[in-house]
Amino acid sequence: MLVTSKELLLDAQKRGYAVGAFNVENMEMVMAVLAAAEETGSPVIMQTTPGTLKYAGLDFYFANIRAAAERTKIPVVCHLDHGNSFDLACAAFRAGYTSIMIDGSKKPFEDNIALTKSVTDVCHAGNVPVEGELGKVGGKEDDLDNGEGENPYTDPDQAKEFVARTQVDSLAVGVGTSHGVYKGVPKVNVDVLSAIREVVPIPLVLHGTSGVPDEQVRDCVSRGICKVNYATDLRIAFMNGVKAHMASHPEDYDPKKYGVPGMEEVKKYVMQKMEVVGSVGRA
Ligand code: 13P
Repeated sequence: MLVTSKELLLDAQKRGYAVGAFNVENMEMVMAVLAAAEETGSPVIMQTTPGTLKYAGLDFYFANIRAAAERTKIPVVCHLDHGNSFDLACAAFRAGYTSIMIDGSKKPFEDNIALTKSVTDVCHAGNVPVEGELGKVGGKEDDLDNGEGENPYTDPDQAKEFVARTQVDSLAVGVGTSHGVYKGVPKVNVDVLSAIREVVPIPLVLHGTSGVPDEQVRDCVSRGICKVNYATDLRIAFMNGVKAHMASHPEDYDPKKYGVPGMEEVKKYVMQKMEVVGSVGRA
């Protein structure tokens, strides 16, 4: 069942769990995430970045995710991750995406507000919720390298003002995580997170979660994170499944053969993360 992220995240907020948001790159990953959601009874968000959309287009990804959603009673959201322009946000909205992120976090505060508000104006007219971002998530995200180590945290007072002025439905926050593969063990600044939670009433979103120890993720969820994003580790899981198969069956030329172990690895990973974020049985 295709739904918007609004009801899922508000339920998560009310009942103290989070919904996993998993970046999908191809049909096999959509199928694997769906299988994990069904097996665990988890609501789920499937999302694509602008870089992914360059590969096959909004229409292809939306068709795949909608097909998955129509096969199940589990609530499935089709989300634009890190929308980087007004035009892309509107294109995703028109294509049928049921949740839109507009990421103006690299812009000055006022410009971020203006861009984000222009997107909420459009999307809210069609009852599609919007995620904004304030503060920086480091590392390599999509095609953009935000650099490791320079991680300005989200300022709680600015976050409060940002939410009031843009009317976003959820907010991605900078609390010390990075996109991509971590060089060391990441340390989330949970005090910053709690301070934001004190003054921001809407669901908060954690980005860059691949490689963050499960205990830290659970702590973040207990402090108000309602959506947890995983991308890099799904790609690695898929690749590992394919690689292991090709190592033992070097002559297998059929994608239907080597795709299966790729899907199995992604499904295993996603099921375990659904446990961590607390979404199991919430569908
Ligand atoms: P990771 O690639 O670090 O899991 O980040 C995912 C993410 O935040 C997508 O927006």
